[in-house]
Order: sequence, then structure tokens, then C-alpha cells
Amino acid sequence: MEYQSIINSIYKEVSLLENKGTIADYIPELQKINTDKFGIALIDNFQNRYSIGNATEQFSIQSISKVITTSIIFSKMGNDLWQRVGFEPSGNAFNSLVQLEYENGIPRNPFINAGALVIADLMVSHFENPKEYFLSFMKELSENENIEYNETVAQSEKENGYRNAALVNYIKSFHNIQNHPDDVLDFYFHQCSIEMSCLDLAKVFQVFSNNGIVPKTKFKFLTTSQCKRMNALMQMCGFYDQAGEFTFKVGLPGKSGVGGGVVAIYPNHYTVAVWSPKLNKKGNSYYGLETLERLTTITEASIF
Ligand code: DON
Repeated sequence: MEYQSIINSIYKEVSLLENKGTIADYIPELQKINTDKFGIALIDNFQNRYSIGNATEQFSIQSISKVITTSIIFSKMGNDLWQRVGFEPSGNAFNSLVQLEYENGIPRNPFINAGALVIADLMVSHFENPKEYFLSFMKELSENENIEYNETVAQSEKENGYRNAALVNYIKSFHNIQNHPDDVLDFYFHQCSIEMSCLDLAKVFQVFSNNGIVPKTKFKFLTTSQCKRMNALMQMCGFYDQAGEFTFKVGLPGKSGVGGGVVAIYPNHYTVAVWSPKLNKKGNSYYGLETLERLTTITEASIF
């Protein structure tokens, strides 16, 4: 497949669209980003890399990090994990509180903030130094040593994270958070603040297009069943209350973040990452979704 010429023409076409998105403003530090940034990176399962635009520039990966923390905990706990968090789509915004009360503090899935906070709690329980472990694992998967937390972004979110603080305390009242809420939030804000490029992310997510195996080291990080389940979760829950539309228009599992990044996986074929900071009303990158819809339309290939 001529992926380079395909992404070149998509890039050109999408760049001409009026960008109807707006930048995330609830983390003040994220507002400083140049909203014209736009990059695409695709890596196929033969390790060929294709990219265009700002594909090597690092940005705040935000909720995309939730896929990796969930995978780490799933690989450690196996299916016992699903006692602590569900695997159903929520149909609500990423930071919604409403379902928690009538579902007794068990979040719908690990990608809404409530679920990601339970996963963050498990990271704090499983690792002596969860921040150090998570960062070194991201470096290993991306094969890039130059990846760091952005302390200013983490701090900026901590200072404004009233909703996440409410969520973690509320879940703790149902005994589904075991550690101190401050420790859970500190890890969570840091995991979201990691900065990576489209190329880094396409590399990291290869484990999901490659049956749970890290391509370079051949390390079987996830069992085949766990890999299937992580892709299923991304399909059903990766875009919150726009997961249905993403499945309908793109037809691939994926995950977005409020930094404007979107990653998608075509199992056994490729991973692709797009970055454009302006978000649609559901908190997903406007150009990101336009790009991925064109990709599966032009290639006539998706999981469906
Ligand atoms: O919890 C938050 O609000 C952010 N740190 C992460 C949110 C996010 O990226 C949602 N995804 N689209």
C-alpha cells in the first residue's frame, strides 16, 4: 500500500478544511500551544514508517496514556481487573460523574476518568515508584529515551483538577480506591502530562497491532486474548460519547487525548497517530477524526 502518498494527500486535503475545533482550556498550560500544528505518522507491521507535518514534535498525550496504564495492570492482574472497573461503553463525557452513584463506585470502563483513576490507584499499589516505572516503559515501547513528564502541565492540571479530585474521593467512598487520593491524582496527572510525538505513539501502539508482542524485543507483553480485549475497549470506549461515531466513520479501535492526539490501530496491518490540537465538542481532535476517516475510506480497509 502506498501509505506515504495516501497520507500526503490526506494531509493536504484536511489542511484546507476550516478547523471547527477549539483548544482544551481547562488545563491552562495546554492553551499555550500553537493550534496550527498538524502531523500524521503511520507505521506498518513491516516496521516501515511514513509521516508528514509535525509528526516528530512532542505534545501532551493526555488520555492516550490510559491505554498503556490499563494494559500494564491487565498484564499483571489478568481478568481479576474487571472486578474493579467495567468494560462497557459509557455514552457520557470523559469526566462525567453521573454513573458512579448507581453503579456503586465501579466505573464503566478504564478510559473514562473515573476508570483511569482506579487504574492509577492500581499502578500506585503495584509499583514502588509508579511514575518511574511508567516513564521507562513508555521509553522502551517508543524506543525513544527523550520522553519526559511535563511537570508544568501536571501541576497546571493538579491546580485545576477539581473534578478528578471529586471522582477519586467519591470512588474511595465506595472502597474502590485503596491509596491516598493525593497519591493517585499525582500519578494520574503525571501520566497525562507525558509528551510524545506522533511517531513515538505509532511505535508504542504497535503492540496492539502485533498480537501483544513488542516488535523490537519480541517480548509478549499481552496475551493474545488480552490484546484482543484492549483493542475491543478502544473500539467501544476510546472516544467516550463519540465512540459510536468513530466506529461508524473510521472503523478502527483507537484513543484520543485532549492534547489533540489520536491513535488508531489496524490489527496486523498498521498503527497511525495524528496530532492537531483543536478539539470538537466531544473533546476529540477535529482534524484527527477527519484524517482517520479519510484514511480508511481511501484504503478501503478497516476491521469491518
Ligand atoms: O483528566 C483529564 O481531564 C485529562 N488529564 C485527560 C483528559 C483527556 O485527555 C480526555 N480525552 N479526550
